[in-house]
Amino acid sequence: MPSTHLSRRMFLRSAAAASAVAALPIMTEPQLAHAQRRMAAKNMPAGAVRIDANENPLGPCSGACSSISSLIPEGGRYDMDLTVKLVNTFASIEGVKPEYVKVYAGSSEPLHYTVLAYTSPTQPYVTADPGYEAGMYAASLRGAKVLKVPLTATHAHDVKAMVAADPNAGVLYICNPNNPTGTTTTREDIEYALANKPKGAILLVDEAYIHFSDATPSLDLVKADKDLIVLRTFSKIYGMAGVRCGLAVGRPDLLEKLNYYGFNSMPIMAVAAATASLQEPTLIPMRKKINADLRNATFDWLTANNYKFIPSQSNCFMLDTGRDGKQVQAAMAKQNVYIGRVWPIMPSYVRITVGTHNDMMAFQSAYKDVMSKSAAELAAPEWTGPGGQRHNMLS
Ligand SMILES: Cc1ncc(COP(=O)(O)O)c(C=O)c1O
Repeated sequence: MPSTHLSRRMFLRSAAAASAVAALPIMTEPQLAHAQRRMAAKNMPAGAVRIDANENPLGPCSGACSSISSLIPEGGRYDMDLTVKLVNTFASIEGVKPEYVKVYAGSSEPLHYTVLAYTSPTQPYVTADPGYEAGMYAASLRGAKVLKVPLTATHAHDVKAMVAADPNAGVLYICNPNNPTGTTTTREDIEYALANKPKGAILLVDEAYIHFSDATPSLDLVKADKDLIVLRTFSKIYGMAGVRCGLAVGRPDLLEKLNYYGFNSMPIMAVAAATASLQEPTLIPMRKKINADLRNATFDWLTANNYKFIPSQSNCFMLDTGRDGKQVQAAMAKQNVYIGRVWPIMPSYVRITVGTHNDMMAFQSAYKDVMSKSAAELAAPEWTGPGGQRHNMLS
C-alpha cells in the first residue's frame, strides 16, 4: 500500500488512543425537527409529506444499495478495512492525506465533539443566527457562552462581526450553505475569518449541504494546514441519513482532540455504501440538478402567488408566512404536510425541505389553503366535534 494511504495499523492505533469518557448527549436534526412538532402530531401518520428534516427522499444511490445488500451476510464482522477503504477513497478523490480524514456515523458526532473540544467556560462558541442549533447545545453542555451573530442582509455569515464577537472565542462555526436559510458564504469571507479569527480559535466549516450549491468548498484550506475542521455528511445529497456516515477533515493535531470524546468502529454497510457513492461520478451533478429544478419550480410558484421566501442554494429554504410560523406549521401538519421548524430570530418564517415532486405539489396545495385562512382562524384553539371531526372555535 502506498505510504500516503491510511493503513489498518494506523487506523487501529488511532482508535486505541480514544479514551472512554462519559458522553454528553448529542443534539441532531431529527431530534430538533421532532421537538417542534405539535404534541398531537409527534408520530407522523402514514402517507405524511415529510419536508421537515432536510432528508433526501431519493435515498442511497444504486451502488450504495447494492453494497449494503451484498454485505448483509458479512454483518458478523467488524471489518475495519472497509472504513480504511472509505478514508482512502475520499482522500484520493479530494487530494487530502488519509491522516486528515476521520469517519463517524454521521457528522453530528464530530460537530458535537469539536465544540466540546475547542470551547470552554472561557472560550465561547460563535455562530450565525439563524443557524444550525446542534453546536449551540454542545457549547451549552460544555459551559461555554453561545454568541449568535445575525446573518448579513444577503443572509451570508457576518464574518467581520463573528471574528470580533469575543477575543477568546474557541470555535467559529460557519455552515456553508447555511441551515436553515440555504444561503452561502463566499470564499473571500471564509479566508477573512481564518486570517482574522482570535488566535486560539478554530473555524468549524460545516459542508453538510455543499454539493447542492455553487459555494466553494474549503478542503483546500485544510490541505494548506490552516486552523479549520471541515465536516461532510452522507446524509444529504447522498441520501444516507438513516444509514449514518460522515467525515471530519482537518490537520491530524486538530482531529486528535476529538478522540477524547469517543471513537467507535463504523457500521460496515454505512462505510461501504459511502465508498460506493463516492465512486459514482454522475451522482452529485444529477442530484444537484433534481434538487435545484424542484426548488426553483417551488420558488416560481411562490413568486406567482405573491408568497415571500429567501432564495436558497440548498435542499431547504425559509418561507416567510407573514404569520406566526408555529401556527402555520401546526396548520400544515393537520393537512398531513410536515414542514420544518421556526427560528426565534425569524418568528414568521418556517423552514421547508425540498422533497419529491409530489411532496412539493402537496406542500403547495396545503400552503395555499392555510394562507387563505385569517391569522385569527389559525390561532383559534381546536375542539373535537361529535363525529370526531376537529374544528377550531371560529369554524
Ligand atoms: C448543518 C448540519 N450539519 C450536520 C448535520 C448532521 O447530519 P448527520 O449527523 O446526519 O450527518 C445536519 C443534519 O441535518 C445539518 O443540517
